[in-house]
Amino acid sequence: MVPAHIGIIMDGNGRWARKRNQVRTQGHLEGLKAAKRIVKAASDMGVSYLTLYAFSTENWKRAAEEVGFIMGLVKRYLIEEMDFYRQNGIRIRHTGDFAGLPADIGQEIRRAMEDTRDFRGLQVILALNYGGRDEICRAVGRMVKGTAELRGGDITEDAIRRCLDNPDIPDPDLIIRTAGELRTSNFLLWEAAYSEYYISDILWPDWTEANLKAAVEDFQKRERRYGGVTSSVQGGNKP
Ligand code: FPP
Repeated sequence: MVPAHIGIIMDGNGRWARKRNQVRTQGHLEGLKAAKRIVKAASDMGVSYLTLYAFSTENWKRAAEEVGFIMGLVKRYLIEEMDFYRQNGIRIRHTGDFAGLPADIGQEIRRAMEDTRDFRGLQVILALNYGGRDEICRAVGRMVKGTAELRGGDITEDAIRRCLDNPDIPDPDLIIRTAGELRTSNFLLWEAAYSEYYISDILWPDWTEANLKAAVEDFQKRERRYGGVTSSVQGGNKP
């Protein structure tokens, strides 16, 4: 089965550029091209949700020039791909601290979400100004200060889940991390409780449809137990 929801930590843009003696921003430019290839591939494969970690709550610590460049890329992506979204029925969504985004980026995300809200194909969730801990803090804030519907009641996993940024989106089945680092980097901390991880050494700008297919094939071989045990592990599967 194709995973319904794939999350990707797109890492390695800087290393890709350094290997070629190019500036880091060139790596991000190539990273955007890779994102376009992978969105198309995921859409063609019948994936329902694709969350792309484009900018973390910690990424503001980078040089102002690099931050500005990445924000500019996001804006361009949202504007230039509209025809592609329309042709492929792709819906754009956002996760992260929307209020902390530069006004023009927030406006463009809002516009893209509005323009694509009725599209029924792949949903692309841009994690922008996103941190897993930050999302949980904001969820708790909504529980404490939010609407009457969210306030009060027992603190349960379901109550917290309903206060996350996109409660209707199922948890990711598969989380891919490119460029070989073995850490979560604050990505979908709550939602990834039972996700399968796939780490690839390939730098993000080099990613193609074939790499996505390999990750999905690897996922398809995994046995998901959600903390339980299967009958074969229990040894109770004999006639
Ligand atoms: C990580 O590489 C990449 C980022 C922090 C930015 C990712 C942004 C894009 C690919 C462009 C925008 C994408 C979309 C979908 C709008 P790094 O710079 O940390 O690489 P390094 O670890 O090799 O230095």
